[in-house]
Amino acid sequence: MSAAHQEESPPVPDLSTLPPDFLWGVATSAYQIEGAVRADGRTPSIWDTFCQVPGAIDNGDTGEVACDHYRRWPQDVALMRRLGVDAYRFSVAWPRVLPEGTGRVNPAGLDFYDRLVDALLAAGIRPFVTLYHWDLPQALQERGGWPERATAEAFADYAAVVAGRLGDRVADWTTVNEPLCVAWIGHLEGRMAPGERDLTRAVRASHHVLLGHGLATRAIRAAAVRPAAVGAVLNLSPCEPASDRPEDVAAARRMDGHVNRWWLDPLHGRGYPADMVATYGVEPPVRGDDLAVIATPTDFLGVNYYFRQVVADDPTGPPPYARQVPVPGSVCTAMGWEAYPAGLEQLLVAVSEEYAPARLVVTESGSAWHDEIAADGTVADRERTDHLERHLAACVAAVDRGVPLGGYFAWSLLDNFEWAYGYDKRFGLVHVDYSTQRRTVKASGLRYAELIRAHQRLAGSSDAVEVSR
Ligand code: IFM
Repeated sequence: MSAAHQEESPPVPDLSTLPPDFLWGVATSAYQIEGAVRADGRTPSIWDTFCQVPGAIDNGDTGEVACDHYRRWPQDVALMRRLGVDAYRFSVAWPRVLPEGTGRVNPAGLDFYDRLVDALLAAGIRPFVTLYHWDLPQALQERGGWPERATAEAFADYAAVVAGRLGDRVADWTTVNEPLCVAWIGHLEGRMAPGERDLTRAVRASHHVLLGHGLATRAIRAAAVRPAAVGAVLNLSPCEPASDRPEDVAAARRMDGHVNRWWLDPLHGRGYPADMVATYGVEPPVRGDDLAVIATPTDFLGVNYYFRQVVADDPTGPPPYARQVPVPGSVCTAMGWEAYPAGLEQLLVAVSEEYAPARLVVTESGSAWHDEIAADGTVADRERTDHLERHLAACVAAVDRGVPLGGYFAWSLLDNFEWAYGYDKRFGLVHVDYSTQRRTVKASGLRYAELIRAHQRLAGSSDAVEVSR
């Protein structure tokens, strides 16, 4: 039976206190779904290169085909329409638009996003364009990558090109996605592209990604024809000590600095936290008015939330000499991440109280589980549904405590290429059979659609649409 014919179950949680214009969205990123890595003039990104490193990616998976979204995007827009989402957050692949990273623009690459934007608008879905979700053109990596200042400047030029083309129709922009992953995981831990393990280069990369954000914010506003709302996207985690030992308390403070304050402080005009500069023993390569550029006022802050960090001292480990420890008795997702919805409320309230951003948007929240397609073709992903409902309840609780929360984007629309974990980790509201590319809306997707509809009715919107699997 399709959901359209089912008795509507009452929304859990109670969404009545969410603002009427609260945005319901889904999110993806280019390299994780598009495939078509050699189509229409695209050149390799650092992820194409990293995927060729033996042992870097589980099962030797790559993003070469992924969800074949580059060709199947009309079907994916139709899926979003069926879910009834208000907004779609996707990223533009820099090497499709500027194959050498700078200079020559590839019109065919821009055309793809141009068509996508038009189709989204025609379907009544607001495009949220992310400019950098980790797929740096390999050509720029060969010139030094993010540890080089020139990459931040190239990013601003690329932002201007994309905003110049799409900025007559796109109103919502996010600059960089999760700088923590770019700098710390990509350049310090080596678990993501470009796979480096060098603290000095990681600190340099962190500064240039933030500088790129500030420069791009200005470039978007200058190039876009219509008013542009711009923000950065950070992945944040509340950090708490594993015990009362002073060493663990100090370690939790360092982890908070590494994961949260290193990004939030400079974005909000406070510069880099001195305790973390001392912890790293490396000064970020700040020049001239860099800190003012980084703190360029934005319209919203995007928050990606997946887990909290319970932290113990780790004096012999890598910076920040602190490590996340398991929480006994906790429920963990297929990623091994603790499911902890209270952390989202805690985080939204803390960021709002400490930094007072104009608006917060949950730009990603979701979970991977071991999904199975039943004989009748359904995916009864009870854990993901529960996870979704609890995280939405956390959003409601944060709004009730005064947080100016503008929207929630579920990660992800589709199962996709989960970076170093390959295709085994499924985050989608929609199941993808990678051998046939068949899409199946999971129970969580149906539930999300139901909650969106319930909120739209509460808000008196005429947009509410029925959904079937
Ligand atoms: O898949 C990623 C996404 O690319 C960035 N945020 C976290 C997600 C889940 O790991």
